[in-house]
Amino acid sequence: MNTNLSSTAPSKLETDCLVVILLDRREKDQAEKDKPSPSVECADAAVRDAAKDVIASGEATAKIFDITLLHRPAKLKAKRLLLLGGGKAKNFSTTELRKLAGTAVRTLKGKSIRNFALVLPESAAPSGAPSSAPKDALPENATAENVPSVGISAPDAVRAIVEGAFIGDFDPGYYKSGKDKEKDQKIDTVTIVANADDKFSDLEAALHTGRIVAESQNFTRDLVNEPSNLMTPTILAERAKKMASEVGLSCEVYGADKIRQLKMGAFWGVAQGSDEPPALIVLRYDPPGAAKDVHLGLVGKGVTFDTGGISIKPADGMEKMKYDMAGAATMIGAMRAIALLKPKVKVTAIILATENMPSGKAQKPGDVQIAMSGKSIEIINTDAEGRLILADGLSYARQLGCTHLVDAATLTGAIVVALGYVNAGIFASTDDMYERFAKANQQAGEKMWRMPLDEEYKELIKSNIADMVNAGSRYGGAIFAAMFLKEFAEDTPWIHLDIAGTAWMEDNKPWIAKGPSGIALRSLVEFVKGWNS
Ligand code: BES
Ligand code: MN
Ligand code: ZN
Repeated sequence: MNTNLSSTAPSKLETDCLVVILLDRREKDQAEKDKPSPSVECADAAVRDAAKDVIASGEATAKIFDITLLHRPAKLKAKRLLLLGGGKAKNFSTTELRKLAGTAVRTLKGKSIRNFALVLPESAAPSGAPSSAPKDALPENATAENVPSVGISAPDAVRAIVEGAFIGDFDPGYYKSGKDKEKDQKIDTVTIVANADDKFSDLEAALHTGRIVAESQNFTRDLVNEPSNLMTPTILAERAKKMASEVGLSCEVYGADKIRQLKMGAFWGVAQGSDEPPALIVLRYDPPGAAKDVHLGLVGKGVTFDTGGISIKPADGMEKMKYDMAGAATMIGAMRAIALLKPKVKVTAIILATENMPSGKAQKPGDVQIAMSGKSIEIINTDAEGRLILADGLSYARQLGCTHLVDAATLTGAIVVALGYVNAGIFASTDDMYERFAKANQQAGEKMWRMPLDEEYKELIKSNIADMVNAGSRYGGAIFAAMFLKEFAEDTPWIHLDIAGTAWMEDNKPWIAKGPSGIALRSLVEFVKGWNS
């Protein structure tokens, strides 16, 4: 998909479809007594004119994701005009804008439209926005100064639009053949229409960043989308290697010998049951000029299929366990973005890739495994395998000298019970780490909710025979798993992201297809950029 910028007046732009956002700019008390009158977020009078009748009729509204498509709009060069509801102006942020761009892509590609142009919402303009805002949609007493601004800078808006467009363009129907495949249409070109007085060099930079981040997110989704027969630990390692050589990262891949040599007994305990060889993947980014005292470690759970092992899962829904490597894919995708964006901070990603299978070689409930750190683990449930492989991943990151750790994993069904499909769970060993990550989260427009790690929960991990058990009470299961991991992060500042409920979209949404979401990648990239020295 090509992305470009234009300063042509929207009405003069030749495109298959001009896309304009409608916002509800009324104040609350007004909203109650007045009938709807959405504001057309475009200063071009001809565009507002073309939209006038369909808005007056009440057919086109500012309701979020409301879609109205007009053909041959009067006095416009565009073949079509798409009016996209963006909700209330006062709630409008880059998060909504990102989703609207995705909605435009998903709406138009289904109609075999190959290119469109989206007008930056008025309020995203750095200057002159209030004076050019549509007066007719504003309160009587509105002046150039008191038009409510949604306060998105033009570069932030461009970045959000580019990200949203790429995210919306992703189609998971890889293996559809014949007739169905014809439906798999792609948008060739997205044009973002900015004001001529915008600083185009800033917009170009934002477009470039947005493109790298979103393409990396789609790279992650691509890995997660593959079924387990086509995404074994070996294939995941090959894909990481290929990506690394394309973007100039170093990538090492180790097998069973090295895993045993490093005494990764917890990782090996899971891997020993599978005929597919495991892979320990290490991606290194070490830019010149980076601070010597910061070394970020990104640890990803790469279970390419989780049957549960001997504590086997029920058949119903087991097919979804192909996405149990989403944490790994997220870290690999984040490393791609980092290598291309070049922040000045040292980052190493450690990916633990294996299947979790029942077999004659598989570990059994009651077995005791000695982790790389020397701690012993009584295996109560072989389905609690993610925490085992991550335990050794965290120890290895510490051994490699990482000063701050982040792991991402589809770790527990319990996080889905706690937070549903909306928020990912975030666990942080220090407030400083949490605050840094929360800030990154907000910038990235991803939803995560902090979960507790109180000492009292430690009771849960006690074993009779070993230092700890790998599974216990039904209650507080996501916290239990995090407390277990904390034993291996030790005193290194650490964040754990449980993305079990958010790595896979359960339904199609206007802005994103059902399937792998690529959650956490954008936050991780922002988090890493925040350490730029
Ligand atoms: N991969 C699963 C967690 C999961 C559940 C991911 C739902 C995505 C969607 C994990 O390995 C697992 O099986 N966890 C168990 C732990 C239990 C046995 C202590 C769980 O959450 O049920
Ligand atoms: Mn499991
Ligand atoms: Zn799992």
